[in-house]
Parts: sequence; structure tokens; C-alpha cells
Amino acid sequence: MLVSALLFLGLGLARADDSFVRSTQDPQIPSVYAIGAPNGSFAKVNGRLFEIDGRTGYFAGTNAWWLGHLTRNEDAKYKIVRVWGFGDVNKPTNPDAADLYRVWYQLINGTGAAFINYGSDGLQRLDYVVHRAEQLGLKLVLPFVNEWPDWGGREVAYAPACSFEPTWYEDAGFQAVYRAYVRVLVTRYRASPAVFSWQLCNEPRCSQCDVSVIAAWAAGVSAYIKSLDPLHMVSLGDEGWFGPTAGYSDPSGSNYAYEANDGVDFVTNLKIPTLDYGVFHLIPAGGAIRMNGANKPVILEEYGSPERGNHTRVLAPWLDTIVKSGLAAEQVWQFGPANVSANSADFGDEFTVYYNSSEFALLGAKHAQDMLDKGG
Ligand SMILES: *[C@@H]1O[C@H](CO)[C@@H](O)[C@H](O)[C@H]1NC(C)=O
Ligand SMILES: *[C@@H]1O[C@H](CO)[C@@H](O)[C@H](O)[C@H]1NC(C)=O
Ligand SMILES: *[C@@H]1O[C@H](CO)[C@@H](O)[C@H](O)[C@H]1NC(C)=O
Ligand SMILES: *[C@@H]1O[C@H](CO)[C@@H](O)[C@H](O)[C@H]1NC(C)=O
Ligand SMILES: *[C@@H]1O[C@H](CO)[C@@H](O)[C@H](O)[C@H]1NC(C)=O
Repeated sequence: MLVSALLFLGLGLARADDSFVRSTQDPQIPSVYAIGAPNGSFAKVNGRLFEIDGRTGYFAGTNAWWLGHLTRNEDAKYKIVRVWGFGDVNKPTNPDAADLYRVWYQLINGTGAAFINYGSDGLQRLDYVVHRAEQLGLKLVLPFVNEWPDWGGREVAYAPACSFEPTWYEDAGFQAVYRAYVRVLVTRYRASPAVFSWQLCNEPRCSQCDVSVIAAWAAGVSAYIKSLDPLHMVSLGDEGWFGPTAGYSDPSGSNYAYEANDGVDFVTNLKIPTLDYGVFHLIPAGGAIRMNGANKPVILEEYGSPERGNHTRVLAPWLDTIVKSGLAAEQVWQFGPANVSANSADFGDEFTVYYNSSEFALLGAKHAQDMLDKGG
């Protein structure tokens, strides 16, 4: 039951309609889909594990970043699903564009000027994902912004609102626009048991910055989110690098992931009280999982094998390692559906294990059951 679910986003798509576009400062247009129907409880931390709907244990999950950017149907597997909570543009998209390139949530076109698209090619898509996830008992991780230019990008989409002084993370214009968007999403979905966690950014980086920059930003924003919604978990979304002060080094010598080159220190950030769990986008090496002095759960949030047609060769031993590790959960990059309203080349990649492939039985269904079978 936990590993199989089908979401139907079965709507005809109307043209972008200006009457559905509102400033982030204006009252929201409510969701046309019911949000917050009581079904299950809010996911929470229980020691170094998660409790989901009354069950404490280990969980499998996946990434389906494109889910909100489809306009037809979609399917998703596993318990914890990470879906981009952003779709940032500087001008409206072409209403005739194919799926994944048409839906947008936020338009930023001037200093402090940001607008939400509440229409059928806007936040209605994410509304439906949340609504349908509630019915299916799925839990969603929703990042607010992307480090990378895809579907926004913190430096690209936010450029009209920022001077990047001294850094994007400390820029007053950015903070105002970003927090307004955070407030829109959090207040819109905070009643929903389908939210697993609010995530500050997909892979935040701050080149040549001291680790204190991202840590201070993460502490401030996560505390702000808790003030709006004390009941849901909050996560950072980082790749899990270690800084020199963490006291860890690569036995083989110099290694990018141990030098906090991009201002990210997993250990420092995990100590932030308003961040509920840690994530990393790496393959466990050198016992990284044991380095969790903060006594919080940790999710291996992105991992995958780029070997098209033979993901099993690399992934099978990884999955074995994950099952034997203390990781509370993991979210593979990525499973892919075979029949949705977008071209599979646009949402799939060399990492994608399609549900219709023979690999899915082992890498998908069996693995999710193995995680559940570990118990609490
Ligand atoms: C920004 O977009 C909004 C919403 O579409 C629009 O009302 C406004 O005129 C735009 N401003 C500029 C400077 O283009
Ligand atoms: C509640 O969630 C479960 C999955 O946990 C699902 O099977 C059930 O249909 C949902 N009930 C409603 C009323 O949505
Ligand atoms: C997958 O990789 C394994 C190990 O390298 C190899 O034995 C097998 O033939 C490969 N299968 C395919 C379909 O490429
Ligand atoms: C599975 O779906 C993908 C994506 O649509 C497609 O390319 C592939 O041919 C399908 N494979 C099978 C075995 O049906
Ligand atoms: C693909 O999805 C469409 C729309 O939901 C449906 O009509 C069609 O039967 C599906 N095709 C397959 C092969 O499942």
C-alpha cells in the first residue's frame, strides 16, 4: 500500500488568466481542491527516526521534482516524495509550451515585486499534488527555491529583486521576496498532513563564503517557518558537505566535500534547533552516517546511478548499504512514470528507473518493503 499509488492530475488546461495573478502581498486565492482533510497525522521526528502516521521506522522515498509541473496525469511511488515547490519566472511562460515549461508559480519582475499565479497553469497544480497526496497517504518534501537555474534558480529568477549584497543569502531584497513566497506556501498548506517537510532550498551553495552565512540564513528562515507553522518539519536541502571545523577529513587527502568550499557545513547546520533533520546528496563514504552528533534523523535525499539500462549494477549494493545503515530514510533520484503529459526525455534522465522496467521490481518495490521491514 505504501509503495504504490497513482496520482491523476486530470484537468483540461485553460489559458493563463491574469485574473489569477496576485502580488505575494495580496490575500491569496484559495485552493479549488480541498487541502488539510484529516487523514493520518503530521510526520515528525522520533529520536533518529521518523514517525509517519503513527509508525516509527525506516522509510523509502523518491524524487519527483516535476510533479507540480505536469498538467495531466502522474504517478508516484514510495512514502516520501520530493516535489519542487518552486516554479519561478521573470515573465509569464508561453501558454502553448509543452508540459514542464508552461506551469509557473511565481513571477519576479522588479525590486520587491513578486506575483503568484493561482491559475490552472499555476499553483493549482501544486494544490492538486498536495490534495491528492493527502488521499494517498503520501508525504511531500517541498523546497521553496532552486540553487540551479532550472525552474527558477535563486540567482537567476530572483535577480530583479536582488542586489546580491553582500551575498544572495544576506540580501534584503531577496529575503523579502523569498520570505513572502515562503509565507504563501506555508500558510496555504500548513493544515495538510501530506506535508513531510518544508525545505529551504534545493542544494544551497554560497561560493567562497564562510559557513556562517548559510547557517545564519537557515536559522533565520527556519525559525520564521516555525513561527507560521510549528507542527511541520523543516529541512535545509543541502548536499551535506563537511567544513574543516567539523573535524573530519578524507583519508585519501584533499577532497572537495570536506572543505566547505561552497559554504555548507553539514555538522554546523544540523545543530540549528529549527531544522528537524539532516539531508545529504552523496553516497555514504568513510562512515559519514555515524558523524551525526546532533541526534537527529538523516535522509540520503538524492542518489542514483547514471548507467542507463543497468541501474541495478550500481544501485543494488547501495540499497543494501542503506538498509544496513542507520539512515532514517532515503529518496532515490529517481523513479519515472511511463505515460504522463510531458515528454519523458524532459523529466527523466540517465538516472531514471521507469516503473515499467524490470529493474523497478528490485530497486523499487522490494527495497521499499525492505526498509519498512526493519521496523522501529
Ligand atoms: C510585473 O508583473 C505583474 C503581474 O503580471 C504586472 O502587473 C506588472 O505590470 C509587471 N511589472 C513590470 C515592471 O513588468
Ligand atoms: C487516507 O490515507 C490512506 C493511506 O494512508 C488511504 O488509503 C485512504 O484512502 C485515505 N483516506 C481518505 C479518505 O482519503
Ligand atoms: C549490467 O551490469 C552487470 C555487471 O557489470 C553485467 O554483468 C550485465 O551484463 C549488465 N546488464 C546489462 C543489461 O547491461
Ligand atoms: C517504459 O517507459 C519509457 C518512458 O515512456 C519508454 O521509453 C520505454 O520504452 C518503456 N519500456 C517498456 C518496457 O515498456
Ligand atoms: C496514457 O494516459 C492516457 C491519459 O491518462 C490514457 O488515455 C492512455 O490509455 C494511457 N496509455 C497507456 C499505455 O497506459
